Amino acid sequence: MHISFRQIQIFQAVAQTENFTRAAELLHMTQPAISMQVKQLEDNVGLSLFERQGKRIVMTAAGKAMHAYGCELLAQYQGMVETLKELKNVHQGYIKVSAATTSIYFITRMLASFSKMHEGITVSLDITNRKALVEQLQHYEADLVVMGEPPSNLDLHSQRLMCNPLVLIAPADHPLAGKKEIPIADIAGEKFVVREPGSGTRAAIERFFAEYGHTFSSTLEMSSNESIKYSVIAGLGLGIVSLHSIKLELETRSLAVLDVQGFPIQRYWHIVTRDGKWLSPAAQAFKEYVIAEAAAYAQDYQQLLL
Ligand code: PGA
Repeated sequence: MHISFRQIQIFQAVAQTENFTRAAELLHMTQPAISMQVKQLEDNVGLSLFERQGKRIVMTAAGKAMHAYGCELLAQYQGMVETLKELKNVHQGYIKVSAATTSIYFITRMLASFSKMHEGITVSLDITNRKALVEQLQHYEADLVVMGEPPSNLDLHSQRLMCNPLVLIAPADHPLAGKKEIPIADIAGEKFVVREPGSGTRAAIERFFAEYGHTFSSTLEMSSNESIKYSVIAGLGLGIVSLHSIKLELETRSLAVLDVQGFPIQRYWHIVTRDGKWLSPAAQAFKEYVIAEAAAYAQDYQQLLL
């Protein structure tokens, strides 16, 4: 069975786009050339890799198996190219970082100070929710991922960075603001403004209420912590957000943290790499920088709860 590396690259482009024309555009080839290469690959393998469903093409079981290996092979190839490039010039590099929506409150600051020290290194930062981060890890897409809980079903290396306490927030003039040790039953009737399904924060909130035998009713679901904070200030309901997202609002006293039984919900930030994904010297330097900085940030945030 002969499979060339070029055929794997072409197959991966078709698998990712599920469209011969778009794959051709991506690879700067013609659509017939792509179709011919895929046909030849299928002949070599002796299996169909795609099937037509109306106007769409979808991967067969053999196509899906090849795609999973293809992701890993291309990641290794990319690693090899980056290493060779960096051996030419160790002061340059490109790092692909993906981070949980809620981590922007610290990761952007870390990135700014790192970039000042390493001007030749370009960092691409993708901010997205937990569900999307897990998919990226699955497909070896990011060099480094900053997230809450790492998924347990993938081969990863993860290192804990710092605490990520989730606090219950209310408008500053809420009747429970300033009260101590509020029983959880006292907030059972309140409406909540919460993150979207797929968010790590949302999953933690659901686990928390299930543990206490309560359910929560939400007025609104939002994919941004900023929108949640503004909605809580406007009186749409209570919110549960990372302490890291409300530093400014606590300083300006526009929000109150309620001292409710079981809160803060204790969580942690991690920096995660996928096993088998090569880490460039630039990515390694950024990882070490984030780990070293996290300790100082943790202390800074802890002051907010005092
Ligand atoms: P989120 O992730 O921004 O998807 O909620 C943060 C987390 O997992 O704590």
